[in-house]
Amino acid sequence: MLTRTREDNRTGPRYFIWTIGCQMNKAESERIAGYLDSAGCRATGWFSDADLVILNTCVVRQSAENKALGTLGLLKGLKDEHPGLRIVVTGCLVDSDSKDLSRRFPQVDFAFRPGDFRELVEWGHDEAGLVGGELRLPETCSPCAYIPIMQGCDNFCSYCIVPYRRGREVSRPLEDILCEAEQLVEHGAVEVTLLGQNVDSYGHDLPEGPDLAELLTQLEGIDGIARIRFLTNHPKDINPKLIETVASASKVCEHLQLPVQAGDDDILRAMRRGYTVERYRELVRTIRRHIPHVSLSTDIIVGFPGETETQFEHTCSLLEEIEFDVVHVAAYSPRPDTAAARELEDDVPSHVKKQRLNRVESVQADIASRINSQLQGKIVEVLVEGKKKGRWFGRTRSDKLVFFADAGDWLGRLVEVQIDNASPWSLKGQVSTNS
Ligand code: SAH
Ligand code: SF4
Ligand code: F3S
Repeated sequence: MLTRTREDNRTGPRYFIWTIGCQMNKAESERIAGYLDSAGCRATGWFSDADLVILNTCVVRQSAENKALGTLGLLKGLKDEHPGLRIVVTGCLVDSDSKDLSRRFPQVDFAFRPGDFRELVEWGHDEAGLVGGELRLPETCSPCAYIPIMQGCDNFCSYCIVPYRRGREVSRPLEDILCEAEQLVEHGAVEVTLLGQNVDSYGHDLPEGPDLAELLTQLEGIDGIARIRFLTNHPKDINPKLIETVASASKVCEHLQLPVQAGDDDILRAMRRGYTVERYRELVRTIRRHIPHVSLSTDIIVGFPGETETQFEHTCSLLEEIEFDVVHVAAYSPRPDTAAARELEDDVPSHVKKQRLNRVESVQADIASRINSQLQGKIVEVLVEGKKKGRWFGRTRSDKLVFFADAGDWLGRLVEVQIDNASPWSLKGQVSTNS
């Protein structure tokens, strides 16, 4: 007898979700997929097969915005050929005037601000004939799931467009998050990563004022969760209680994303980051004292307006001194509405930005190679996320990417891997005989 899968019964539109940007966008795309699935839509693999395309956009730098605009252009051509194609835009390209986007791009049927899923559901019901759809999580999820715990940002770093596009900080109630974590576990999640632009201020706007440390402690109690992560921290807001919680809570991984952005006090002031290099150093010392094997990631912007060669060297020295595990580096890109774009001239030539970017990458490659080579011969615990080109891959608690080949089925399982090869970006090994 033939068994029909749920998908076979679906007759709704075929949809394709295009996603760029940060983990927040990825998490939101998963939720959009959950809603569309519940409304009987079917996922497809590419634009040309779709009746409904959702663009989940990012505008953190001009280059990201250009990708979104390029894709909108491509879709205009597709819509000319298939007039029934519906195009929906979300993510940070959509500002407070979402109607304006539909005016600028007539090919867009509907735009909604990041996270405003109720608007999508309303549109789906009223305009796209998607009856019966509900906001829910996808039926199956990856072993590693994201949970947005707050929207927006109140910090207004001078270069950053995020507060203008995602609005002010709004925390989700603690109970909602715990409930979602439990559902995700039922759907196969083993690790949860809590997301927010500044997770250190989680809860300040909620009636009982829970904080991130409390949320982590409560999540620890959920059976089935093996690992908990969270990002992003802000150096001016991370507090001792949180550091102690990471040190003592067994499921919370020893990994912090602590963007420093620059290693020069004048640049940090112009960026309106709210800390000095010395304060950042002290913070790292405190974190390392409490969490000895902590791995640290950071973000750097090179070529901020007025950045001199000497100021840039201060950033390189700080990288050498702190020895981060991972550094994400970007060239400064002026963004509309931001204080830096309004008040400061983008005066570092693009070839100098590029040189500085390459320099940071090469300084960091040496550091990461030194750090990772210390893992050679060691056994690490890996949570397996999937398979690529015949090899399993997953991450250690310290967020290092590990590849290994093995005939067993390891998806979603914790496995001990003996490392036999280390590069600055990933590790390779074999399943340890202890596993
Ligand atoms: N809330 C997080 C993430 C913000 S966006 C944080 O505070 O770090 C992610 C990264 O993009 C930032 O850390 C920053 O390094 C980079 N970024 C933001 N605006 C930028 C700009 N205008 N030009 C270049 N890089 C930028
Ligand atoms: Fe942007 Fe600063 Fe907020 Fe991060 S903390 S999202 S860099 S304004
Ligand atoms: Fe991009 Fe918005 Fe995230 S601008 S980095 S998608 S918060």
